[in-house]
Amino acid sequence: MCGIVGYVGEANAKDIIIDGLKKLEYRGYDSSGIALNVGGRLVVRKCKGRIANLENMIAEEELSATVGIGHTRWATHGAPSDVNAHPHTNGDGSIAVIHNGIIENFVELKEWLARDYGVQFRSETDTEVIAHLIGIYYNGDLLDAVYKAIDKMRGAYALGVICAQEPDKIVAVRKESPLVVGLGNNCNFIASDIPALLKHVRSLYLIENNEVVLLTKDQVKLFDANRKEIHRDVFHVTWDADAAEKEGYDHFMIKEIHEQPKGLYETLHRRIDEDGSVRLDGINMSKDEIEKFSKVYIVACGTAYHAGLVGKYIIEKLAKIPVEVDVASEFRYRDPFVDDKTLFIAISQSGETLDTLAALREAKRKGARVLSVVNVVGSSVARESDDVFYTWAGPEIAVASTKAYTTQLMCMYLIALYMGKERGTLGSDAYNQYLNDLKEIPDLIQKILDQEEAIYEIAKKLYKSQQVFFIGRGLDSSVAYEGSLKLKEISYTNSFAIAAGELKHGTIALIEQDTLVIALATQDFLFEKMLSNIQEVKARGAYVLGLAKENNTTIERQSDRVIYIPECRDELTPMLSVVPLQILAYYIAKLRGCDIDKPKNLAKSVTVE
Ligand code: M6R
Repeated sequence: MCGIVGYVGEANAKDIIIDGLKKLEYRGYDSSGIALNVGGRLVVRKCKGRIANLENMIAEEELSATVGIGHTRWATHGAPSDVNAHPHTNGDGSIAVIHNGIIENFVELKEWLARDYGVQFRSETDTEVIAHLIGIYYNGDLLDAVYKAIDKMRGAYALGVICAQEPDKIVAVRKESPLVVGLGNNCNFIASDIPALLKHVRSLYLIENNEVVLLTKDQVKLFDANRKEIHRDVFHVTWDADAAEKEGYDHFMIKEIHEQPKGLYETLHRRIDEDGSVRLDGINMSKDEIEKFSKVYIVACGTAYHAGLVGKYIIEKLAKIPVEVDVASEFRYRDPFVDDKTLFIAISQSGETLDTLAALREAKRKGARVLSVVNVVGSSVARESDDVFYTWAGPEIAVASTKAYTTQLMCMYLIALYMGKERGTLGSDAYNQYLNDLKEIPDLIQKILDQEEAIYEIAKKLYKSQQVFFIGRGLDSSVAYEGSLKLKEISYTNSFAIAAGELKHGTIALIEQDTLVIALATQDFLFEKMLSNIQEVKARGAYVLGLAKENNTTIERQSDRVIYIPECRDELTPMLSVVPLQILAYYIAKLRGCDIDKPKNLAKSVTVE
C-alpha cells in the first residue's frame, strides 16, 4: 500500500526522502513522487514505476530544500500514471499533499469543489481533492486549513501536507492509515512505518487515530480532533536497524526464511522464565475469564488466516473449546454470533491490515474479549486489543510472509497450551511434553534449511509448471493453503490447494498427464489415507512431489520426488512442513525471473478495504 515520508530539518531533504521511500518499497507501489520547498516555491516531481525512475528524473536538478514530503503510490483511484502519482497540489501549486488511504466521499467533494469554486482537476485520484480542499481553506495558517479540510472528509487517511508560504512546517494527520513521527536533533520526520526512519532516529511518536501533528525542525506538537494539544510518551525502537537490511542475501524473502529458527526461539524463550515456567506476557486474562469463554473466533487475512486454521485445530484439541476461523473481510459483514463469552483472536503481521482492524472493532463492539497476535509493536491492531501477544519475528520486509507465519503458529501453540492448562483440559505432563517438543522446533527447522540446495535442484525441475495443486489432510491441508499462496504470489504460477479427500468431489477432473501435485503427508495417523490420494492423482498422470517425515519412506513408492522433514509430533509439523514450501516457492520464482520481494499488484501492508 502507499507509503509516506516527510522531513523538516537542516539537511538535504531530497536525499533523505528518497532514501526513506526506498525503505518503504516493500509495502508495494506502482509510482512515486516528491514535493520540496525550494526557496518558498513547491517543486513537485513524480512518475510511474520504480523509485529509480524518480531518482533519474531529479538527478541533475539542484533542488536545494530542507523541507519536503515523498510518496510511493499503490493505485486505488485511477491507473498507475505520472499524473495520478502523489504528491498532489492545489490550483496554484502552493499546497502539496501525500496520502495513504481512501477518501470515500471524494466524488461528492469533487463535484462541490468544481461547482462552487471552479476547481479543475488534473488527476483521477481521490487525493487531489484534499489538496484543493486545504487550498480553499488556507488563510495563512496551514494547521487550521488542514483541520477544516479533514472535517469535510470521510474515509481513511494518513496525510503529509506542506505549504509554500510556511516553509518551515509539515502538517500530518492520521485516521486509520498508519503514521509515525521520528524525533531527531534539529530535524523531525513523518513516515508510514518505522523502517523508513531507522537510519535517522530511534525515538518516535506513534500517532493515534484522529490526531493531527505539526512538525518544525525543533518541535513536534500533537493535537486531538478538537485541536487540543496532547502529550504522547516517546516510543524507543529497540530492534536493530540491520534487521531491516538484506545482509548479503539476494532477497529479503530468503533472508527471512533463514531467520525462522531465531524468530521461533525468541517467540518461545522470551516467555520461559528461569524456573522453566511459561509466562504469557501481554495476556492478562484470569483463569475465570478463560473458563467463561464459550467459543473462539480467529480472524485474519492471507497467510495470517492460514495460521488461524492451524490455531483452530490446536485450540480445539488442547483447550476443548469450539473455534471458528474467518477471513476478516467476510467476518465483518456477516453479523457473526459474538458476545461477552467470545474470545476473538486477531492475527496480523503488520497490525495495520484494515479488514482485520475493522473485524476486531466489530467484535469488540459486540462485547468480545480481543486478543491479538501481532508482529509490529505499537501497531493499530496491537493498540486496540485487550491483550497482545507479540510474535517477535523482527521486521518482515518481503511481501511474502514467512517468518511471521511460523512465529504466529508458535504463538497459537502457546495460547492453546495456556488455555488448555487454565481450563483443566490439558494435564501437566502433557503440557510439559508439548513445551519440550516446542523447544526442539528451531533446531528442526535449521535441519530443513540445510536442505536448501537439494530443494533448489527440485525447483529447477519444476519451475516451468503452469499449474500446481497442493493437497493434504488435517493440519497438512492448512499448510497446503499456505504453500500454494506462497507459490502463486511470488512466482505467478496458477496454484490451488485443496483438502486431499475433497479432490474426488470435482477438482480431480483437472489432473492430467504431468500435472504437478505437491502432496503433504506429514500426519502419521492420516499417512495411509494420503498415500491413497496420491495414488488417485498418479493414476491420472500427475507428477507428484511428496512431503513427509523422514521415517515414512514408503511415500517414495507413490511419488516422483520426496522432500523429508525431521520426525516430530503430528500437531507441530506445520512449523516444519511450510519451510520447504517457502524455499521451493522462492527458487521457482527466482528461476522464473520474478521480482520476489515486491510481487506485482501486491502490498505488504494492506491498509484499504
Ligand atoms: O499484516 P497482515 O498479517 O495482517 O497481512 C495479512 C495478509 O495481507 C498477508 O499475510 C498476505 O497474505 C501476505 N502477502 C502473504 O504472504
